[in-house]
Amino acid sequence: MCYAIPGKVKEIRGKQVLVDYFGEEKKAINEFYDIAVGDYICAQGGFVIKKVKEDEAREVLSAWKELFFELQDIDLRLSRMDLGEGSDKKLRLILDKALENIPLKKDELLYLLDLDSQQSCQLLYKSANFLRQKYHKNSCCIHGIIEISNHCQQQCTYCGISTHNKDLPRYRMTQEEIIETAVEAVERYGFQALVLQSGEDPGYSVDELAITIRKIKEKVPVLICISFGEVGLEGLEKLYHAGARALLMRFETSNPKIFARVHPGQKLETRLEHIHKAASLGYLIMTGALIGLPGQTNEDIINDIYLTKELGAEMYSFGPFLPHPETPLGNLKSPSEEKVLKTLALVRLIDPEVAKILVTTALETLEPTTRKKGLLSGANSLMLNVTPVKYRKLYAIYPNKAYSDELISTQIEEAISLLKSLGRAPTDLGVSKVI
Ligand code: 5AD
Repeated sequence: MCYAIPGKVKEIRGKQVLVDYFGEEKKAINEFYDIAVGDYICAQGGFVIKKVKEDEAREVLSAWKELFFELQDIDLRLSRMDLGEGSDKKLRLILDKALENIPLKKDELLYLLDLDSQQSCQLLYKSANFLRQKYHKNSCCIHGIIEISNHCQQQCTYCGISTHNKDLPRYRMTQEEIIETAVEAVERYGFQALVLQSGEDPGYSVDELAITIRKIKEKVPVLICISFGEVGLEGLEKLYHAGARALLMRFETSNPKIFARVHPGQKLETRLEHIHKAASLGYLIMTGALIGLPGQTNEDIINDIYLTKELGAEMYSFGPFLPHPETPLGNLKSPSEEKVLKTLALVRLIDPEVAKILVTTALETLEPTTRKKGLLSGANSLMLNVTPVKYRKLYAIYPNKAYSDELISTQIEEAISLLKSLGRAPTDLGVSKVI
């Protein structure tokens, strides 16, 4: 749950609080605040991140109330569907099952991933959007990402910041820069959840990262998500104790052979061990895979979605592989936009009630107009790039990364205006400021 609008606490059971948002109830975990029934709080990813004064909360809520229901109406209208559309009977039977929340079999999922007619794909996207609306209503997570260093000691054969890319100028933000950027993202732009990401950079010790996280948490109320690669199981523990509460770590592919081929010297097992450990520590899990790795079959993609679900992911991050010329896989092709959208839709069908599904920057780089399509194919989450502009182009995991130049304020305006046109509530940002 990522509602940044203040909610009113209705019930408290130990660490669990039940929060009311305009009549909708959501649960959140409270670890740090002294909270009583009737108080107002903000929560991110199911964690209470701040207490809000009553008059402030009432002001935001009254500004929001009318718009909230207006947006819900737009969303409801856009997500209506009719399976009578289209002529493919088998497709309609499969989607009918999915819409009834009956789990689909693998061969049915494969049938969907194989669809090629525009009309059939549209029906799949619409079904996914219907389920998104049914279980998640119109809320859309917007998290910020700060790419703190592009140094990396790994040799992943697809990645533009791996050791393969000898010509890339490397940068590493200082602790002060990271803190300043994070504080600005929260205080000036209203972000309530931030991903800190880097290559596997031995230039920062886990202890240093922990201090940085602790200092950010001391300064601003924010959900911190870490994405520093494999920091070790003990490292995960240290960063949790420092205040990080979410882990973004893709396993990249559930197929161990492909994993080994594209990650020289690494093991799928170790990656999964990290994710399991993080989940057991209480981190919120954001994970997923690359679509279009060499040798990957449609069945692999479905297994990737299954594995993400098994890992207890709250957020699914699935994006296209985009070849980087300075890497061993530089001559390959990226997958089609359609393939990625179908994958997002399948995620929604496989895990309709839990999945927050991200429209990745990689997908937007593949096809600049795709954000809207993704949000209408089951997705309900965006990540905006709040890295200082001078570093953004250098975080070149793939070429021509979208949003490398856009000011944060421009990115926010664009995102909010799209979300409003779709009837989605950008409930993660400082809503009182941006609407
Ligand atoms: N294309 C798309 N995504 C990539 N990543 C790394 N290299 C590429 C690429 N060439 C993704 C990986 C990693 C995330 C930070 O960036 O999936 O988990």
